[in-house]
Amino acid sequence: MALSLSTHRHNIFVLSTSKTIAIGHGRTKSRRADSMVVKLAVAYEEGQLKRPKWGGETPLSRLVGALISFKPLSALLKLGARQVLISTAEKNNIPWREMRREILESDVYKEIESIQNPSIIYPDYYLNPFHAYDEGNLSWLAAAEAEPATMSIARRAMPNASSPEEANQVMRGNWLQAIQQHHLQHSGNSMISDILDIGCSVGVTTRFLADNFPLAKVTGLDLSPYFLSVAQFKEKKRAPRKNPTNWIHANGEDTGLPSKSYDLVSIAYVLHECPERAIVNIVREAFRLLRPGGMLALTDQAPESKILQVCFYFCYIYLV
Ligand SMILES: C[S@@+](CC[C@H](N)C(=O)[O-])C[C@H]1O[C@@H](n2cnc3c(N)ncnc32)[C@H](O)[C@@H]1O
Repeated sequence: MALSLSTHRHNIFVLSTSKTIAIGHGRTKSRRADSMVVKLAVAYEEGQLKRPKWGGETPLSRLVGALISFKPLSALLKLGARQVLISTAEKNNIPWREMRREILESDVYKEIESIQNPSIIYPDYYLNPFHAYDEGNLSWLAAAEAEPATMSIARRAMPNASSPEEANQVMRGNWLQAIQQHHLQHSGNSMISDILDIGCSVGVTTRFLADNFPLAKVTGLDLSPYFLSVAQFKEKKRAPRKNPTNWIHANGEDTGLPSKSYDLVSIAYVLHECPERAIVNIVREAFRLLRPGGMLALTDQAPESKILQVCFYFCYIYLV
């Protein structure tokens, strides 16, 4: 199918409010949204969410469910899973523990005061344990490990890259190339002046955007003040930019930002972490924030997952 285009098993979508869609990595294709997205929506309805063998309603899945709900055992399983994750990353030349230590032993803690929005109300899903962290994304440990975790994703997606850095460059580079190509083809000579990166985490995507669009004002937005603190801390360590990046602690479902104020909204590797309701709200909010002719750039893993099918469907609704 036209969408399964990635050598890196991720899909990239660049959509614009001028009713075109570009899909690609390297070889970007673009067509009218009303014909293309209908095909996507239909084709994706045929897809199945891939589940592990113990998923679903089988006796094995019920046994696994019962074992996981037994707290001491689930704590042990989580610990084991984390250790496997870290040792796999380190075997792949990602210095996980060193990167974590660098953050945890730094002055990062000072940043949270200027970033945290005390009146934020977290959505329920965000308060659940996540990625084997009891406080989900709301902890310094999760924030200190977010960048090595991102590098592990890139490494898995680009197994032939010669280093984790190259894997990240290629994965992010493909995404930027799709954005730039789409912009050239569909936005005439218009400038990209304002960019919003929703779910920016510790700012990896945001930095790529700021490096590639140095004339634009770039804003990273996330629900975790810990992740944003790391993002701001890392940004302060590098040479100052002409347009410093702005970090906002807000919910991407309802940012409170003015309508039609961005030329590019990026949502990179965020939606697979969100329930359907949040996906719909985040996509709706992104379209509200875009200027006429602006672009929505989505990239995520698991192209066949049901959750992304939902996302395509809602993009379709907003485009036609
Ligand atoms: C996997 S990380 C994204 C990584 C980053 N965009 C990148 O490309 O490296 C997913 C991020 O989405 C954020 N997130 C999840 N739900 C959100 C929401 N409703 N509003 C804002 N950020 C959200 C999480 O806090 C997390 O930082």
